[in-house]
Amino acid sequence: MHFNMASDVYTGSLLKTLAASKPGGRLLELGTGTGLATAWIVAGLDETSSLVTVENNELLIEVARKNISDGRVEFVLTDGYEWIKNYKGEKFDFIFADAMPGKYDLFDETISLLNIGGLYIIDDMLPQPNWPDGHDKKVADFINVLEKRNDLSLTKLNWSTGIIIITKLNK
Ligand SMILES: C[S@@+](CC[C@H](N)C(=O)[O-])C[C@H]1O[C@@H](n2cnc3c(N)ncnc32)[C@H](O)[C@@H]1O
Repeated sequence: MHFNMASDVYTGSLLKTLAASKPGGRLLELGTGTGLATAWIVAGLDETSSLVTVENNELLIEVARKNISDGRVEFVLTDGYEWIKNYKGEKFDFIFADAMPGKYDLFDETISLLNIGGLYIIDDMLPQPNWPDGHDKKVADFINVLEKRNDLSLTKLNWSTGIIIITKLNK
């Protein structure tokens, strides 16, 4: 399918480990793609956890849906911008934001969907071969925004594709 945006194996392993730290948790993935990272997250779910994963490309999400047949996972084919703006359900304990909406766009709205103590995880924060022109500035600006927030605790990992793990504080 020439889909070259899948998360790498180290990120996958980390996602599984962090997903497993939320027994009974509600987990969210923005940007399912063909479901590689989804599969890693599912591997970390316990029996009572659940995952909502959102993607706007029907061909991609159908690959994920066919390969990950699991009652704990809800595949949502929709525009992530609309989904974030309209979501009124329970908050999440874990968000893997791997699409423009929820990461570079609508960050405030997305972080407001996270419970206190919940984890927000992003990858591809170190230069990648598929970055379009000007993306490096977008990344630097976003990191600046993250670092100014006093309601978040964050760690930047110079590892894998560049991971940032954030915990939402009780402030
Ligand atoms: C970096 S890829 C995600 C890769 C995925 N984590 C994996 O391991 O395969 C980003 C995904 O976000 C999706 N996407 C882009 N814009 C979107 C939008 N507005 N709403 C929902 N999904 C979107 C793309 O179609 C793409 O599949």
